[in-house]
Amino acid sequence: MACERTLSILKPDATARNITGKINAKFEENGLRIIAQRRVRLTRAEAECFYAVHKERSFFADLCTFMNSGPVVVQVLEGENAIIKNRDIMGATNPKEAAPGTIRALFGLSIDQNTVHGSDAAETAAREIAFFFRETEILG
Ligand code: CMP
Repeated sequence: MACERTLSILKPDATARNITGKINAKFEENGLRIIAQRRVRLTRAEAECFYAVHKERSFFADLCTFMNSGPVVVQVLEGENAIIKNRDIMGATNPKEAAPGTIRALFGLSIDQNTVHGSDAAETAAREIAFFFRETEILG
């Protein structure tokens, strides 16, 4: 078992509905620690940069518009196998396909407004954490 860190984003549909505490409780109940957290409004350019890997996809423009539509909460989660564990806690990208009890099944509105983002692999997590946080802001 490896202690890992992963980048999590509570998306604008989560802040709009005032459910960030309920989502954070899911992480903590499942053994993940929130070791850095900040509420920010991404600019359109920041959203495009963060999601650059998807820039050729048909949903890219809508995704960036949505991520720029209101505040988000960016956070670093830490724990045993945190990357895969967080993906399990979040559930499938499309809330309609997410397993019962997962964050996206409970709270997701659509594949676009799917409430949370989580890094998908170790390299991605390192890059995504560094996108938002300096090492001195992460208090494990
Ligand atoms: P997220 O984990 O933040 O990563 C990229 C986002 O693009 C994804 O969640 C979805 O909200 C959004 N998206 C919209 N359409 C699709 C799609 N067809 N496949 C994957 N992601 C999509």
